[in-house]
Amino acid sequence: MSRRRRIYEGKAKVLFEGPEPGTLIQYFKDDATAYNNQKHGTISGKGVLNNRISEYLMTKLMEMGVPTHFVRRVNMREQLVQEVEIIPIEVVVRNLAAGSFSQRFGIPEGTPLPRSIVEYYYKSDDLNDPLICEEHITAFGWAAPQDLDDMMSLSLRVNDYLSGLFLGAGLKLIDFKLEFGRIYNEHGEMRIILADEISPDNCRLWDVKTNEKLDKDRFRRDMGDVIEAYQEVARRLGILPELQQAEAKSDAPDAAGRVKA
Ligand code: TMP
Repeated sequence: MSRRRRIYEGKAKVLFEGPEPGTLIQYFKDDATAYNNQKHGTISGKGVLNNRISEYLMTKLMEMGVPTHFVRRVNMREQLVQEVEIIPIEVVVRNLAAGSFSQRFGIPEGTPLPRSIVEYYYKSDDLNDPLICEEHITAFGWAAPQDLDDMMSLSLRVNDYLSGLFLGAGLKLIDFKLEFGRIYNEHGEMRIILADEISPDNCRLWDVKTNEKLDKDRFRRDMGDVIEAYQEVARRLGILPELQQAEAKSDAPDAAGRVKA
């Protein structure tokens, strides 16, 4: 058994100290929460799927020139990532109305938006992640105007690329949430890169023909077949057969960092 230093535990992931300075191990849990922690649950197998789906999407984005924290997947539930200074802002990109946007503006879910809309939310569980605007971000020093420009242009590039990729898999990318972090090179120069994960936990994905929801809304709204929806996304992206094989072996450490002998 081996134990690693736990750096941070979030709702769906744990970050452990990585093998080298400047790296972390990102462990994907099966835990699910919604409505700022008011709803809790476990979706058996979700962590394995999100680890693999996020690896796939981050790798594709890096091939397109989008800088991300992803280094490589280590095992079924873990990936090696670069340690970043997380910017305390959630960037949401919306293509069609859904969720809180539909509620806020009284627009039915599924209504196409005149153009992709980028929103910012302040990462604070105590404040229930409030919607904020650029003025709040720069006035409170959460990010500089140049950082915001970088985050906005990266988010739109991610949206263009992922919308096409998912469409090719028969899925509509309704909206999604991204997080960014800062990394510094040996000369102290800072760069903004994509961090966190991209998975059905933080994207809305609907079947192109039927509009069936294949994302975390199935959990949020008690629709059932949650893991089946995540599996379907992985299957359509062409990554499920590989997962099933690996699951049979399942030599992953648990969330405490214990590895089976
Ligand atoms: P919303 O409609 O609830 O504001 O969510 C917009 C998108 O952002 C949706 O794809 C889910 C994602 N999201 C997260 O990943 N984390 C969150 O805490 C929230 C509120 C939304």
